[in-house]
Amino acid sequence: MTKISTQKLTTDFEREVRQGLTDFPKHLSSKYFYDAVGDKLFQDIMAMPEYYLTDAEFAILEQRKTDITELFSRGSETFNLIELGAGDGKKTKILLKELSDQNIDFTYLPIDISQNALNQLTETIENELPTVKTKALQGTYFETLSTFNELNYAKKVILFLGSNIGNLLHEQAINFLRSVREIMLKDDLLFLGVDQKKHPKKILDAYNDATGITAAFNKNILFRINKELGGDFNPNQFLHWEVYDPETGTAKSYLVSKEAQEVSIKKLDLTVSFKSWETIHTEISQKYDDEIMQWLAQESGLTIETEFSDAQNQFKNYVLKKN
Ligand code: AVJ
Repeated sequence: MTKISTQKLTTDFEREVRQGLTDFPKHLSSKYFYDAVGDKLFQDIMAMPEYYLTDAEFAILEQRKTDITELFSRGSETFNLIELGAGDGKKTKILLKELSDQNIDFTYLPIDISQNALNQLTETIENELPTVKTKALQGTYFETLSTFNELNYAKKVILFLGSNIGNLLHEQAINFLRSVREIMLKDDLLFLGVDQKKHPKKILDAYNDATGITAAFNKNILFRINKELGGDFNPNQFLHWEVYDPETGTAKSYLVSKEAQEVSIKKLDLTVSFKSWETIHTEISQKYDDEIMQWLAQESGLTIETEFSDAQNQFKNYVLKKN
């Protein structure tokens, strides 16, 4: 007879928190920043003057929307506009509006891990752009990407905006780009938003704002461990710390323990000791240049067709095809 297990399955969050806090040096993944509180904090980050990325990409899309949408719709009667990590869609709506103004036939398929974010997005599109056909898909990029093999053979344009790729180490980025390539056909496009190397101070300021929004965002992972896993972190006993290496282009975020302390996490049946000034590495935000981008594309079997950038080359949107 089959015994029905009453034991709860261990979630990815539980597994990764245990792994990260028992490793040396300690680490936690930035993908866990985003619960309802984290989503709101990230929106606040995008609105801060220091966080130049959003404005720069917004400007590129606004200034080049005619060329961009022409490229998207070229050569096919209809196409699927797939967005990975859609969020609030503020930037994408520029393109949706342009496509709809030009009466171009397409379907918008936003993918996001957060059902809440998707519901809000679909609702605002219905109100602001009622002619846009939208099909929201909830899930992780990798899970949902594979379902596109079953899509019809209409042209696909895949959007990955906001330099979200920067959260991945190069090796992970290559794996990611390869799996995107796998679902691409000959004429499909990947439209990739990528933050560029620039004055190191400007980058540091973007991730270390004076008002402490980024610090709150970084510490939200400790609040989540407290809420969801019964942890007793005192987030005030940790310092948000940002470093940027202009040689590699890697910005790294840490939480630094201000004193020796013990933290217990009930649901994991785990006690974690911190020495004073011990670190938890939480996020990387990689910055790129054309050379790195060229290398990533080549390693993943993609070709850079063209690129769009703002006047100061702070940010670029690369258009990639399968080679
Ligand atoms: C959403 C991954 C693009 O790394 O710039 C913002 C997240 N972290 N401030 C980034 C973030 C701290 C952001 N991405």
